[in-house]
Amino acid sequence: MPFTANRQFKKNPRMFVGAEGMYYTTADGRQVMDGTAGLWCVNAGHKRPRIVAAIQRQVAELDYAPAFQMGHPKAFELAARLANMAPAGLDHVMYTNSGSESVETALKVALAYQRARGEGSRFRLIGRVRGYHGVNFGGISVGGIVPNRKMFGTLLTGVDHLPHTHDLARNAFTRGQPEHGVELADELEKLVQLHDASTIAAVMVEPVACSTGVLVPPKGYLERLRQITEKHGILLIFDEVITAFGRLGANFGADYFGVTPDIINTAKGLTNGIIPMGAVLVKKEIHDAFMTGPEHLIEFFHGYTYSGNPVACAAALATLDTYRDEGLFERAAGLADYWADALHSLKGLPHVIDIRNIGLIGAVELEPIAGEPTKRAFAAFIDAYEKGCLIRTTGDIIALSPPLIVEKAEIDQLISTLGKVLKALR
Ligand SMILES: Cc1ncc(COP(=O)(O)O)c(C=O)c1O
Repeated sequence: MPFTANRQFKKNPRMFVGAEGMYYTTADGRQVMDGTAGLWCVNAGHKRPRIVAAIQRQVAELDYAPAFQMGHPKAFELAARLANMAPAGLDHVMYTNSGSESVETALKVALAYQRARGEGSRFRLIGRVRGYHGVNFGGISVGGIVPNRKMFGTLLTGVDHLPHTHDLARNAFTRGQPEHGVELADELEKLVQLHDASTIAAVMVEPVACSTGVLVPPKGYLERLRQITEKHGILLIFDEVITAFGRLGANFGADYFGVTPDIINTAKGLTNGIIPMGAVLVKKEIHDAFMTGPEHLIEFFHGYTYSGNPVACAAALATLDTYRDEGLFERAAGLADYWADALHSLKGLPHVIDIRNIGLIGAVELEPIAGEPTKRAFAAFIDAYEKGCLIRTTGDIIALSPPLIVEKAEIDQLISTLGKVLKALR
């Protein structure tokens, strides 16, 4: 099983057999509230009729079309919708089947673009310590999560990392963006001095580093990364696999923070998590740099058998319709303060050393048990599940990201269950 304590699970399996709205049904017939939108992806909640119907219709109409040298209308319709939603200038789309594939695609686009525009010496990729960019080789190389990297050899060469922005000493219990840490973006200038700008193709960061335990960017940090990358001709890639599609109450994290990167990676909420799909959005000048040479030749040697799969496109279009017609991103924005108040009410409970929030994302960081890191949070995960709430843990951090349909009463229920869990923890 992926990212699972296999032996522990198989001794006492936790099985879901159904889901609707905010709730899962377990194999033993209990209702469990989804405090994590599945894996940060089911933003519209479960079993939404419009999405279900769109998938059923599509599979009966055009089940598959070859992705290479052939097309189908929904792939273009969806691309136009995404370009329309994206920050100005990001108007071309390439499809993938997961966040990890979006990451690999974006990194390859960045390297190839630099070469296409005559800057082929820019081979270096910069990520960030504690960054999560999926599990493929590019992503774990640019990413900065040690257990995801250390077993897998030399990874990509020519990669360097910015420091992470987590600073408990100065920023613990901040609501929203922390005050301290903008200067951490200047570390990019140091990497430029070390390697020379002429060797650096791109910097990839998550606007909010979610999978590592919700590290909210300090005020001014993303803006400064943008200034520095622009100054040195380095592409800025936002990995928005989690932060896109309403999680922050906006279309993209780029909109929320008012910082426009050159490339945006998406997946997860694109199809409400139902059909695997990702999309990479790029600026026009990146796309156009490849459109040279004889027209019968392939311009960019990359793609997947399932890129823009018709059923995935139908799911994505129905998902975007659902988000729009139910005003779910605005709803998330409107709930963000209530969410923050609820989360921060947990301050003072046993073992809690930090609480963080932004949009409809929250994290509660626990003091690890001495010598047994992750054990305390894992116990909280199991207890919360038994008490009827699905939460996520990473290290000793509890992460929360409910579907954007969550009601205030459900936020109260989730937080009060978590409070009981925390009080009972050893
Ligand atoms: C920022 C980011 N990038 C990439 C991924 C990988 O996505 P997937 O699991 O769909 O490959 C994730 C997954 O959580 C993510 O949060």
